[in-house]
Amino acid sequence: MAEPTIDLLDLRHYTDGPPHAQLRWLRRHAPVFWHAEADGPGFWAITRYDDVVRVSRDPATFSSFAGGTMIGDSPPAFLAVMQRMMLNMDPPQHTKLRALVNKGFTPRMVAGLEERIRDLARQIVDAVAARGACDFVGDVAGELPSYLIAELVGIPLDDGRRLYALTERMHTTSPVPEGLAAGQAAFGEMMAYATALREAKAARPGTDLASALVTAEIDGQRLSDVEFNMFFMLLINAGGDTTRNLVAGGMLTLLRHPAELAALRADPSLVPSAIEEMLRFQSPVQCFRRTAMRDTVLRDHRIDAGQKVVMFYTAANRDEDVFPEPETFDVHRRPNEHLAFGGGGTHYCLGASLARLEIRALFEEVLARMDAVELAGPVEWLPSTFINGPRRMPVRFTPQAHPR
Ligand code: HEM
Repeated sequence: MAEPTIDLLDLRHYTDGPPHAQLRWLRRHAPVFWHAEADGPGFWAITRYDDVVRVSRDPATFSSFAGGTMIGDSPPAFLAVMQRMMLNMDPPQHTKLRALVNKGFTPRMVAGLEERIRDLARQIVDAVAARGACDFVGDVAGELPSYLIAELVGIPLDDGRRLYALTERMHTTSPVPEGLAAGQAAFGEMMAYATALREAKAARPGTDLASALVTAEIDGQRLSDVEFNMFFMLLINAGGDTTRNLVAGGMLTLLRHPAELAALRADPSLVPSAIEEMLRFQSPVQCFRRTAMRDTVLRDHRIDAGQKVVMFYTAANRDEDVFPEPETFDVHRRPNEHLAFGGGGTHYCLGASLARLEIRALFEEVLARMDAVELAGPVEWLPSTFINGPRRMPVRFTPQAHPR
C-alpha cells in the first residue's frame, strides 16, 4: 500500500467519516506515529488495539489531567476550568467524583428505565411515521438521548433539546474563527444554564442527578460552582451527540449494506450484535488524548514525559490482529470486544449500559415501523476530528397510515 499523506487534523479528510485509509496505513506501518501540529508541539498517534488498551489502563503514566483529553492544547485558564471535570482527572480525585454518579448508571438502574425509554422511542417514531420523510439525525436519532439525559438530570425536555444543540456546537472542531467563537458562546450558555440550575435545585431539591450533585459531599465538602457546572456539562455532552451519532451513523451504515439490513429485518434477535458492530464500525468518539507523566516506551518508541499521546478508537476498532476482516460490516460478528466506549480502566464510559438500551429501543422501533427507508438527499457530516457522525441525513420511507 502506498503511503498516503498523513494529516489526521485536516477536516477535509473527515467529510464522510474518519480517514480510514490513513488510519489503516498507520496501523500497519507506524502504529506509534509522531504527528506534527501546525499550532502545537505535535502528538503521538496510537492506532493499534493493544496500545489503546494499555494507555487507557495506566493513568499514572498517561494522564487525563495534565493537559486534558482534547488533542489541541487549551489556554491555561481554560484548561484549569476543564480540569474540574472528571473526564479530565486522574485517580484518586477522579474516583471520588465518579462515585457520586456511578449508582445512577449501573445496569440495574438502567434496566429500571427500560419502559420509559421504550415509550419515548415509540413517541419519536410516532411523530414521523405518517410523514414518510424526515431528517433521520434531528427527528429520530437525536431526540431520545436529549430527552433522556434531561429526565435524568431533572430539567424540562425542551431544555434538553436546546442544550443538546449547544453540545453539537462545542464538538465541532472547526478551526475557522467563526467556528471557535460559536463553540465558546455555546460553552458560555451551557455554564449560565448550569449556574441557574444549581440555584434552583439547591432551593427545591428533587430525586434527579442534578439535585444529587448539589447536595453531594467529597471529603466533607460540597461541589464548588465550577465543579457542579462541569459535571452538568459532562453529563449533557457525553450522553448526547455520541448516542445520536451512533444511531444515525449506524442507520447510514445499514443503508449502505443492504444485505445486512435485510438480515436484521428478517431476524430482529440480531439487533444486539448489530449494535455492537455499529459501535465498532462507526465509532462515535474518534479519539481521546493523554499526556505522558514520565519517559516511557511504546512499541520501541521512546515517549518523553510531557508529550501528548492520542488514542484513535476508530483505528483500534479495525485492527486486523483482533477483528477478522475488520473492514467488513457484519451484523452477526461475535465476539466483538470493540473499544467504542474506551479502552477500559477508570474512565470507561459511564453511560455504556444506558446508551446500549437507548440504541436498542430506537432501532427496534425504527425497524418495525419504518419500511423501505432510503436516503432522500445528501448526507452532511459533522465537521469534527473528535465526534464522528452525520449531522443531517434526509430519508424517505413508506408512510404509516395509522400510527399507533
Ligand atoms: C454510543 C454512545 C456513547 C459512546 C460511543 C461513548 C463513548 C465514551 C468514551 C470513548 C469515553 C471515554 C472512555 C475512556 O477515556 O476510557 C466515554 C466517557 C464517558 N461517557 Fe460515554 N459514550 C456514549 C454514551 C454515553 C451516555 C449515554 C452517557 C450518559 C450520561 C455517557 C457518559 C459518559 C461519561 C460521564 C464519561 C466520562 C467517564 C469518566 O471520566 O469517568 N456516555 N464515553
